Amino acid sequence: MNRCLVLQPEVQSFIEKCMVAAGAKPSHAKSLADVLVEGDCRGHYSHGLNRMDMYVKDIQTGICSKDGEPVIEKESVATALVNGENVLGPVVGNFCMDLAIKKAKDVGIGWVVAKGSNHYGIAGYYAMQALKQDMIGMSYTNTSPLVVPTRARDCTLGTNPICVAAPANDGDSFVLDMATSAVALGKVELHHRSGDTIPEGWGCDSHGKPSTDPGKVLSGGGLLPIGGCEATGGYKGYGLGMMVEVFCGILAGSQYSKHIRTWKVTDRVANLGQCFVAINPENFAPGFKDRMSDLLTLHRDLEPAEPGTPVLVPGDPERINIKRCKELGGLSYHINVINHMNKVAKTLGVTPELPVDRLLA
Ligand SMILES: NC(=O)c1ccc[n+]([C@@H]2O[C@H](COP(=O)([O-])OP(=O)(O)OC[C@H]3O[C@@H](n4cnc5c(N)ncnc54)[C@H](O)[C@@H]3O)[C@@H](O)[C@H]2O)c1
Repeated sequence: MNRCLVLQPEVQSFIEKCMVAAGAKPSHAKSLADVLVEGDCRGHYSHGLNRMDMYVKDIQTGICSKDGEPVIEKESVATALVNGENVLGPVVGNFCMDLAIKKAKDVGIGWVVAKGSNHYGIAGYYAMQALKQDMIGMSYTNTSPLVVPTRARDCTLGTNPICVAAPANDGDSFVLDMATSAVALGKVELHHRSGDTIPEGWGCDSHGKPSTDPGKVLSGGGLLPIGGCEATGGYKGYGLGMMVEVFCGILAGSQYSKHIRTWKVTDRVANLGQCFVAINPENFAPGFKDRMSDLLTLHRDLEPAEPGTPVLVPGDPERINIKRCKELGGLSYHINVINHMNKVAKTLGVTPELPVDRLLA
């Protein structure tokens, strides 16, 4: 009995009210709430309501701008460089993705990079906007350094997520939306709090040696890239994390790698780099969606190695979570998260608080 049901409109309105009370423009508050609620619906609770206090603090302290809108600094028919003007990440993300889609409608592809941005939540939110227009979407962002490159000791890359979304028939799609670290930092923190060791391949100590002690990973160590150590192919995850920097920090001229501020230390503006791409399949071979549907079915229909655990395609786990939310009639949160966010709301003078009376069995 430690989870509680909250209706989707209740979470949406709660986040918007808290952000406006902190000083954000109502339209910016709405953009943020949309992304966080989508994160929760898709089952990425580490990137939903759970993160609201971080954005509240960014606006309250003024380290993230309350005013202004992103501006285009340089443009061609297919490309743009956008200055996010240090507003909330989702406002920058929506601006850039809309622009990329418009360009892809005109010339087949839109490739837009942003500097001067902030944390934008789940990468999938932006890439999936292209699906609504029957286009392929991609989104990337750099983040504060938390990942230790293969053979190194220091963190120089963020968890730098990648998302590629591609449409299939009848609303179906491929949505690969993932961090380029083996796991999120939050997972290591959870193990630490409960006194458990972590599996090999998640993190390393301050000497760069793989460690199963979450305390060592959190104090001076770091996360390992996808694949873990060198022997298990961690250098490929390291390469992907660096690739994200090529598309984001390096292409956009924002902060990059170890020059990005330390995670949760907001002593200076983030100036993150991000990348948003839309590709119109109409400009390529006919029948894209039919072949996509075939590709998805071909994989979902594979005989599972373990009976009862069907083969999934990227995007399916999130689809399952969305279905579960619909059946429940809302979102399920740990009571501690709700209590914590209600405390934040109280300090902001926001009412009503999130309800705590719909306990789930
Ligand atoms: N803004 C940021 O700074 C930031 C940083 C890191 C991560 N994120 C976000 O955090 C979220 C979670 O990232 P993650 O790496 O923990 O995701 P994850 O490991 O839960 O899933 C990664 C991908 O694998 C797919 N998947 C999972 N199980 C599968 C299976 N059995 N078969 C086929 N596909 C499967 C999922 O559909 C998803 O596309 C993402 O939305 C990401 O964008 C954001």
